[in-house]
Amino acid sequence: MRIPRIVAVVAIALLIPALALSGCSSGDKKTLRVGLITPLTGDVKTFGESTKNGVLLAMEQAGVTLDKGGKIGNVPVKLFIQDDRNDATEGVNVATKLISETKVQAIIGSVTSKVTIAVSNVTNPAKVVQITSTATNPKVTVEDGKRKPYTFRACFIDPFQGTVGAKFALDTLKARTAAMLYDQSNDYTVGLAQYFKEAFEKGGGKVVFEASYGTNDTDFSAVLTKIAGFKPDILYLPDYYQKVSLIGSQARAKGIKSVFMGGDGWDSSELDFKAMDGGYFTNHYSPDDPRAEVKSFVAAYKAKYGAVPDALATLAYDATNMLITAVKQTQSNDPEKIREYLANGTFSAVSGTIKNDANGNPIKSAAILQIKDGKQQFVASVNP
Ligand code: PHE
Repeated sequence: MRIPRIVAVVAIALLIPALALSGCSSGDKKTLRVGLITPLTGDVKTFGESTKNGVLLAMEQAGVTLDKGGKIGNVPVKLFIQDDRNDATEGVNVATKLISETKVQAIIGSVTSKVTIAVSNVTNPAKVVQITSTATNPKVTVEDGKRKPYTFRACFIDPFQGTVGAKFALDTLKARTAAMLYDQSNDYTVGLAQYFKEAFEKGGGKVVFEASYGTNDTDFSAVLTKIAGFKPDILYLPDYYQKVSLIGSQARAKGIKSVFMGGDGWDSSELDFKAMDGGYFTNHYSPDDPRAEVKSFVAAYKAKYGAVPDALATLAYDATNMLITAVKQTQSNDPEKIREYLANGTFSAVSGTIKNDANGNPIKSAAILQIKDGKQQFVASVNP
């Protein structure tokens, strides 16, 4: 049959913008493009490496690899990874690139709150689904009282984490006084300090000293001299492993005997285990948890990477499986359908059952771990 010329011209004219919009070759319309944003370099690079490992293990088990892609049910999937260096501006840059150039419909990441908050303000206007594995600050999903509907997470939030730490200090360690130091430019550390203080004082304790520092500060001598004078039971250090290791070793050199405490940011093989010995931190999971899901995940992770997964790897695995389940169930690459499934679904995960509440925050239990004899040791599990 001869196609009238005019019809052919119109058809081609219609086709060109459609191809341009999809940004890629034919047959790609059904493909789900997934971006991972994670800090592979910079001050928290172990967080980035573990996160990447967790994501790739979950994808591989679902039949998708980084170099070849794959299929989840009938949906072709491709993966793209970007490094944010734990820098909010870089996070926005790579998120913008993933959305406008790579045309991803979903982003896993980022890892820390300060980058994830910035990224969420790019994903939501673009209607791109975002799941963060470990960003615990409330502002990740709600800012100025407004829910960011495309952002979800696999972790609990810091008001819970700070409260768990404070209760443990009061009830188990019988602490009555605490000092705190936090990074003024990082919402995660500011928030965690504030939530710890609220709960500690509500329970009858007293924060006798607190001070903030800048991200690039390395000499804590002056402030530690002041803290030494207070002899607090607890020195609360809610920052990432590099910074707390530095503060911890300088504090011990000053003769400070307080028990160190902190949050999930301590979870790294590069923590200074000697300086932080005896310290306690709140975290998302313990590899010593006897549940079957934990056992089989730890075994699969060890087989692939030769190491025990930390919380970052575990939650990245869980966050990725949330996305995988949503794609399996919806059989779609449509971010709107995936968003709806994530908002309503219940996910059984390694770190516990995940169901995002109206604010995109799962209610989950926390683990308390102690740094002892060069290792992390499981102390207790705390339910919400
Ligand atoms: N909760 C941290 C943040 O929001 C990130 C983190 C999670 C770090 C888990 C270590 C382990 O910035």
